[in-house]
Amino acid sequence: MHSDFSNAVWQNPLEAPKPGADPRPAIVFHGVTKSFDIKHTHSLKETVVAAFKRKAISSKFDALHDVSFTVPEGQSIALMGRNGSGKSTTLKLLSGVMPVDKGWIRTRGRIAGLLEVGAGFHPDLTGRTNVYLNAAILGMSKAEVDERFDSIVEFAEIGDFIDTEVKFYSSGMYSRLGFAVAIHTELDTLLVDEVLSVGDAKFREKCFAKIDELQAQRKTMFVVSHSASQVKQLCERGIILERGRKVFDGPIDEAVDFLERS
Ligand SMILES: Nc1ncnc2c1ncn2[C@@H]1O[C@H](COP(=O)(O)OP(=O)(O)OP(=O)(O)O)[C@@H](O)[C@H]1O
Ligand SMILES: [Mg+2]
Repeated sequence: MHSDFSNAVWQNPLEAPKPGADPRPAIVFHGVTKSFDIKHTHSLKETVVAAFKRKAISSKFDALHDVSFTVPEGQSIALMGRNGSGKSTTLKLLSGVMPVDKGWIRTRGRIAGLLEVGAGFHPDLTGRTNVYLNAAILGMSKAEVDERFDSIVEFAEIGDFIDTEVKFYSSGMYSRLGFAVAIHTELDTLLVDEVLSVGDAKFREKCFAKIDELQAQRKTMFVVSHSASQVKQLCERGIILERGRKVFDGPIDEAVDFLERS
């Protein structure tokens, strides 16, 4: 599903980038559908009875339906839409933590980010161990983490709590440490799923500054946020999802207007 563009084989030459289009898009979503099962039974008895009657005990629904977009390198995109519209699912597919059911995704370079608060952290391990574990998952070697460890802890402002099990962290501490690890990896695409709403005002400012810095380095970025002012500040393009379907894709100001009108 995920591959490097340098050796990408386009399944259909007609789908290859058109002349004049960005020849090296960072990300391509093509007709992506992701389905989940919804269970209809509430008890073991109901499940057994349904099995005897050969009644379906679950059905599939599309959390994402036939979603396509192309992202040139260095672009910042806000992913917007109501609760349950498929934003987090999109980011999870992008990061490769789950496979698509239909369509395909191409990504180039290293993708890192914070999916949901605490995603990738093990509650029974200390902050320190989690940093190493999380960084390893993001593709960093131990030597690389050793070198950046102090800077990660400093950015997260975790202090002495770094040797405390993360299950005792507040949700703000959790996301600060996760964000700190993500931005200290050598990434090409940063995914930010509502992390900015968890930290306090001071931390948020620091995150914005860091995001600005990454944008200046032409990193590609996906930001999920329910704050219109935040996405206007951070992103140039907005994609709006409605029940798993893409209903708008265009300049951020128009996207915010579209959302306010719908
Ligand atoms: N692992 C899963 N199993 C079953 N259903 C799922 C799973 N993950 C997500 N869903 C469903 O898919 C739909 C889209 O969820 P998603 O988390 O992508 O929404 P979202 O746009 O991020 O919403 P929010 O703004 O609340 O974070 C929801 O109906 C959700 O219940
Ligand atoms: Mg979400």
